[in-house]
Amino acid sequence: MNRIRRVGVVGCGVMGAGLAEVCARAGLDVLVAVSRPGREADGRRRLTGSLDNGLRKGKISEGDRDAALARVSFTADLSDFADRQFVIEAGPEQESVKLDVFATLDKVVVDENAILGSNTSSFPIVQLGRVTDRPGKVVGTHFFNPVTVLPLVELVGSVLTEDDTVDVAETFVTEVLGKQVVRTKDRSGFVVNALLIPYLLSAIRVYESGVASMADIDTAMKLGCAHPMGPFALSDLIGLDIVQAISESLYNEYREPHYSPPPLLSRMVSAGLLGKKSGRGFYDYP
Ligand code: CAA
Repeated sequence: MNRIRRVGVVGCGVMGAGLAEVCARAGLDVLVAVSRPGREADGRRRLTGSLDNGLRKGKISEGDRDAALARVSFTADLSDFADRQFVIEAGPEQESVKLDVFATLDKVVVDENAILGSNTSSFPIVQLGRVTDRPGKVVGTHFFNPVTVLPLVELVGSVLTEDDTVDVAETFVTEVLGKQVVRTKDRSGFVVNALLIPYLLSAIRVYESGVASMADIDTAMKLGCAHPMGPFALSDLIGLDIVQAISESLYNEYREPHYSPPPLLSRMVSAGLLGKKSGRGFYDYP
């Protein structure tokens, strides 16, 4: 296929903005779809904030930041994705939204060799492929938060994905984006979340059973296991709604109790306490 130069990112939340930044810093032309008209400025603000952080930390120069920003445009209309060669969907973990996006992308993206990727953490890739007329080109490209910092991408081919699609996606993600790939089967949670989510849920159960405070559980895992953050701070970073969505998906697939969401998690999500992105989760983020 032609060299991939024009990339589309659907969504400009935490993951979408991170993806846009990584692609722009790799020199690609990036078009970001926001959820509705008027949200473009929010998307640009989030992207600028993260690039400024990279500048403050000495990871990029002012010139790199400005050049990256200039490579990114925003739209609220997916039909602008007609000329994209690689699209990564990073919308909410909601089935109806994802199916809608893939059905639309299938209609608007002209290049029949274009790859349609999803950053889903838990939704079956085969179902995304099936709403398109090109399931062989649909692949899971699961990045990790913060996208600019963490090197891993889980690459997930469904039973309908062509081998060549996975190969091209791997070359793109490693050689162009500079990430490291692990290939996984199309199973809920892939590798990382199948292991990480039960750990995060166990931390909530340990807390709810009164063994220790949240802060002490976090300290224990940081100092006792050299984790960069404890399970409560990490859940807040991921987003409690996402932790719950992945937990439900794992439970639906495997029916094993350790995947089921504990009541405290469900109550917090119902209350809109979603973690860092909403200003309050297990901890406060003023
Ligand atoms: N570009 C490049 N580098 C950047 C950057 C940017 N925009 N912003 C920050 N960095 C760099 C910093 O320079 C720093 O690098 P050095 O160590 O070389 O100095 C590094 O990133 C860490 O950044 P900070 O100093 O800002 O913050 P920190 O040291 O407190 O670390 C953290 C914060 C990176 C979040 C770290 O605590 C961490 O890795 N935590 C674990 C996160 C994790 O497990 N994420 C996976 C979640 S699961 C998921 O995402 C998938 C899912 O489906 C749920």
